[in-house]
Amino acid sequence: MVATVIDGKAIAAKYRIQIAQGVTALRAQGHLAALTVILVGDDPASAVYVRNKIRACQETGIRSELIQLPASTTEAELLARIQALNLDDAVDGILVQFPLPKHLSEKKVLETISLEKDVDGFHAANIGALVQGQAGLISCTPLACMKLLEAADVKIEGAHAVVVGRSVNVGKPMALLLLQANATVTICHSATNNLASITRQADILISAVGRINTIRAEMVKPLATVIDIGINRDANGKIVGDVDFEAVLQVAGKITPVPGGVGPMTIAMLMNNTLLAAQARRKISLL
Ligand code: GUN
Repeated sequence: MVATVIDGKAIAAKYRIQIAQGVTALRAQGHLAALTVILVGDDPASAVYVRNKIRACQETGIRSELIQLPASTTEAELLARIQALNLDDAVDGILVQFPLPKHLSEKKVLETISLEKDVDGFHAANIGALVQGQAGLISCTPLACMKLLEAADVKIEGAHAVVVGRSVNVGKPMALLLLQANATVTICHSATNNLASITRQADILISAVGRINTIRAEMVKPLATVIDIGINRDANGKIVGDVDFEAVLQVAGKITPVPGGVGPMTIAMLMNNTLLAAQARRKISLL
């Protein structure tokens, strides 16, 4: 039997409608939710991602501003721009697109963005809040995966979830969210011995590695749910995920495609985080 494809594009479109309603309600109370995106340098992939984020703002009614800085921008200049945005009452969310040029510290950038405007959910205190199960802004990609699992009616409680990848911004928060939803969670990484023997135990298999063909058909338990966070370019320049999609489609029960899976939902969650940040700053509870 061929797996059901989880249509992230369609699910994200539904979320955007809900978010737009929240933005409209907030506007009726006198506050226009606003996101500022900073793009440093001329990485073409980052330019595409940023364009998609700005477009999503337009679709949800969020005011957006794109600040494009040259690759030669100094760290002091970048941090000063962020500090000015922290103080700007009209700005609810600040996102500095990564990767940054090598001479700029991503850590310093994340430490500088004020906690309540950290719509990426990358600030150490927001990650800490997640560890403690406290309210905070949650990293958009793992949150997107949780919403996709929910929309696809995947039972998380009691399931064995295997996350491949342990990055601070994706793999680790992904594992924490699954744990919070009562899954039994295993995190695999580059030093894991016999990866396939572990991934084959997964009811929910999530790949966040960024390498083509990390997950092949023989690594997947029949009827498992497979979520592909990877965004890679193949030899022909085509965007593909970490999962050998066509082969795994024949084994899995449910699977996300790339493109059209986690990506659009991640952007929807960024819009949601911006709305949440705007509501929190205005002390308006969730609508
Ligand atoms: N670069 C790739 N993905 C992301 C993301 O989610 N946030 C930021 N800030 N940069 C990225």
